[in-house]
Amino acid sequence: MANSLSGDSMTERIVRVLDTFTIDRTVQTATEIAARADLPVSSAHRIVGDLIDAGLLERDEDKRVRLGLRLWELALRGSSALRLRQAALPHMEHVQALIREHTQLAVLEHEEALFLERLSHPDAGANITRIAGRLPVHASSSGLVLLAHADPSIRERVLAGPLRAVARETATDAATLRAVLASIRRHGYVIAPGSIEAVSTGVAVPVRDHGEVVAALSVVLPRESATSAAVDALLDAATAIEQDLNLSR
Ligand code: PHB
Repeated sequence: MANSLSGDSMTERIVRVLDTFTIDRTVQTATEIAARADLPVSSAHRIVGDLIDAGLLERDEDKRVRLGLRLWELALRGSSALRLRQAALPHMEHVQALIREHTQLAVLEHEEALFLERLSHPDAGANITRIAGRLPVHASSSGLVLLAHADPSIRERVLAGPLRAVARETATDAATLRAVLASIRRHGYVIAPGSIEAVSTGVAVPVRDHGEVVAALSVVLPRESATSAAVDALLDAATAIEQDLNLSR
């Protein structure tokens, strides 16, 4: 693949262009993309044009650009995330019907919790999670479950910090977090009140595929809610998801 004068490959430049799209910045002009991707305006316009021709980006009437449907289609084709989401969805719906609060599925991705699915309820409380959004692993209930079962090298990298206090009650010292992670491995769930926002309590359990933890299933409850029904519902759902995953592959 041809390199530019600055030495970066075309693939790197394309990835930089795509990376300028975030959960909060979904439409941009090619000139804004150039600045954010640190590319000359002419190069950014050329790459954006090529990606539009290929259907990976789309342009609206105002000449602003967004990620294309084809990118979504390709990303989902045969991805392990899709298989997991499909197995989890009926059981998430069951949890959601029982608990009537946000129910969500997350995986570990580059030391963060990446949310694959979130079901909400009209009466449900606050929730900062978004589908395809990320939360820090040390601060969210899903993240803590994923971190508890992550490869030890990942766990040590995260615990080495820096560990940002997302809320006043976020645990940011390694010793406290180590104790929380050990408790998750021993008891099979976590209850995290106020860890990411003062008004909520996250409850999460691991989801296993052929014995290996591949995801976290969680609910977000109003801060002072009772948690035992949520723990039971999540544990039952995780067992059912594992059974379904064991039948597939
Ligand atoms: C959590 O997983 O602990 C969590 C996630 C989103 C919220 C609150 C808590 O809004």
